[in-house]
Amino acid sequence: LANQHVAAEDLLVSPLWRAEEAALPSPAEIYGHLHGERRLNSQGMDMTYDTERSPVLAAARLLHVVTPEEMAAEDIEALMHTLHAGQVRWDALPVERRAEILTQAADLLESRRESMLALVMREAHKTLADAVAELREAVDFCRYYAIQAKALMRKEILPGPTGETNSLNLRGRGVFVCISPWNFPLAIFAGQVVAALVTGNSVAAKPAEQTMAIAKAFVELLWEAGVPRDALALMPGAGETVGAALVEHPLAAGVVFTGSSAVARHIHQSLAVKDGPIVPLIAETGGINAMIVDSTALAEQVVDAVIASAFRSAGQRCSALRLLCLQEECADEILTMLTGAMQELVIGPALDYATDVGPVIDAEAQSHLVEQIGRIEQGGGKLLARTAWPTALLERARGGDTSLALTMPDDQQRDLHFIAPCAYTITQVAQVREEVFGPVLQVVTWKAGQIDALIDAINALGFGLTLGVQTRIDGRAAHIAARSRCGNVYVNRNMIGAVVGVQPFGGEGLSGTGPKAGGPHYLLRMVAEQAVSINT
Ligand code: NAD
Ligand code: ALA
Repeated sequence: LANQHVAAEDLLVSPLWRAEEAALPSPAEIYGHLHGERRLNSQGMDMTYDTERSPVLAAARLLHVVTPEEMAAEDIEALMHTLHAGQVRWDALPVERRAEILTQAADLLESRRESMLALVMREAHKTLADAVAELREAVDFCRYYAIQAKALMRKEILPGPTGETNSLNLRGRGVFVCISPWNFPLAIFAGQVVAALVTGNSVAAKPAEQTMAIAKAFVELLWEAGVPRDALALMPGAGETVGAALVEHPLAAGVVFTGSSAVARHIHQSLAVKDGPIVPLIAETGGINAMIVDSTALAEQVVDAVIASAFRSAGQRCSALRLLCLQEECADEILTMLTGAMQELVIGPALDYATDVGPVIDAEAQSHLVEQIGRIEQGGGKLLARTAWPTALLERARGGDTSLALTMPDDQQRDLHFIAPCAYTITQVAQVREEVFGPVLQVVTWKAGQIDALIDAINALGFGLTLGVQTRIDGRAAHIAARSRCGNVYVNRNMIGAVVGVQPFGGEGLSGTGPKAGGPHYLLRMVAEQAVSINT
C-alpha cells in the first residue's frame, strides 16, 4: 500500500491539456509498487526505474538552493507603479496572445522538468512522486486557464431594442497581488499567477518565504515565455512585511491568497480599512477534513485511501485527511489493517527514492506539530499507531527525544525535520479544534443510525474543504454530499490530488471564499466587466 513511487519521471507529460493524450503511459507504467521492480510497458519497453541514472535525482543531489533576498520597501513601491502602468499595455493585448504565452510557459516547464523537479525536491522537501504531481498541476493550470480565458473573454453581444447595440466586455482589474503557501510552491504559485495574468491583470507575486527559489525560477520562465517584466514582478519576503505591504498598497486592485485561515482573516481586515478601491479577495485556506466510513465499505480500499490521504506529502496538504470517522461495526478490522499499513511506510529524506513520508517543511512546523500532538494527548487522545523510524534515520538523529520528532542533517548539512506518522483515537468529533498540518490522524467511531448527527458535527467544525465517503449503499454518498458543507467530496477513493479542470478545488466557511481553483468560474473573479450600450 505504502510504496507507490514514480517509475520514470522522464515520462512526465500533462495528462489533460495536451493533444497527445492518447500516447500517455498508464498509471501502472508511471507508478511502480516496489522499488527496483522490473516493469514493462504495454509496448514491451523496459520501464524499470534506475535511481542511479535518474536525471532528476542526480540534479537534486547536486543542487544548492539560492534563496532570493527580501524585497526592500522602496523597491516594492517602485515596482507597484511599474506594474500599474504595465497592466494597461498587457491588458490591451488580445487574449489569444496572452493565452499563447501561457501555453509557451507550459511547454517550457515540461521541457525543463528535470531541473524544476530537482528544485522542488530540494527546496520544498518533496518526494519525486509529489514533485511530479506538482509540476503536472502547474502545467495543467497554464494550459487550462489559457483555454478558459479565450472562451470567457470573447466580447459578448447582448440583445437590445432596434437601433441599440449592447455588449459586455471583460478586462483585467489592475495589479493583482498573489500570495501563496509553501506546500504547493510551484502549482499553487503558478495557478494564481497565470490566472491573473491571462485575464489581463499585472501581477505582484509574493511566494512563501520557505520556497522563494522555486517561485523565482517560475517567474523567470514566464518572462522567457513572453510575459513582459512590467506585467509580472516577484516580490520575495516575509508575509508580515512584504505580504502586508502589498495587500495594503493603494494600487492593489485584487488579492488572491492561499494559506491559513488566520492569515486570510487578517488580510480581509486589512483590505476593509485600506485606502483606494474596494478590493476583491479570493482566499483559499485550510480544513479539518473528515472521511466517513460505513460498515459496507471495502476495508482494503479504505486503508489505501487513508494512507494516501493522511500521510502522503507528510500530511502537508490542505486537502489531507485529518479525522477518520468509522462506523463501530467495521472499526476493529479497519484499525488493525491501518496499524499494519502504517508500519510499512518509509520515513526518510525526500531525495531517497524509497521514501514515502519526507520531512516537514521546517523546524517551526515540526515544533508546532509536536505541541499540537501534545494537545491531542492532553485532550484524551489515545495513541493507536505510530510509524517506526528507520534505523538509518535514528543513527543520524541530532539527539533528543525521538518519540514524535526527529531532526538530522542532509547531505549538505542542512537540517531535515521529521514527524513520525501517527494516529490517535478520540471520542467526539468536537474534540478536534484546529487544523493539524502534518502526518497526524485522529479517529472517531459512530453508531449506526447516527449518520446525520455525524455530518452535522463535521459541519459544525466550521471548515468545509474536503470530505471522503466510503460506502456501498446506493444513495448514501449523494445524501452525505448534499448535507455536507464541503467543497470537494470524494467517494470510495482517496481525497487528495484534485486534477485541474476535473475536480475544481476549494472550500467554504473557514476553508475559503471560492471560486474553485482549476474550475470554470475562477477567472471570472479576476476580471472587471463593462457593459457598453450604443444607440446607432
Ligand atoms: P500561511 O498563512 O502562514 O502563509 C501563506 C502566505 O501568506 C505566505 O506567502 C506568507 O508569507 C503570507 N503571509 C503571512 N502573513 C501575512 C500577512 N500578514 N499579510 C500578507 N501575507 C502574509 O500558510 P502556510 O503555512 O504557508 O501554508 C499552510 C496553510 O495553507 C494551511 O493552513 C493549508 O491548509 C493552507 N492551504 C490551503 C490551500 C487551499 O487551496 N485551500 C492550499 C494549500 C495550503
Ligand atoms: N489541490 C491540492 C489537493 O487536492 C491541494 O491535494
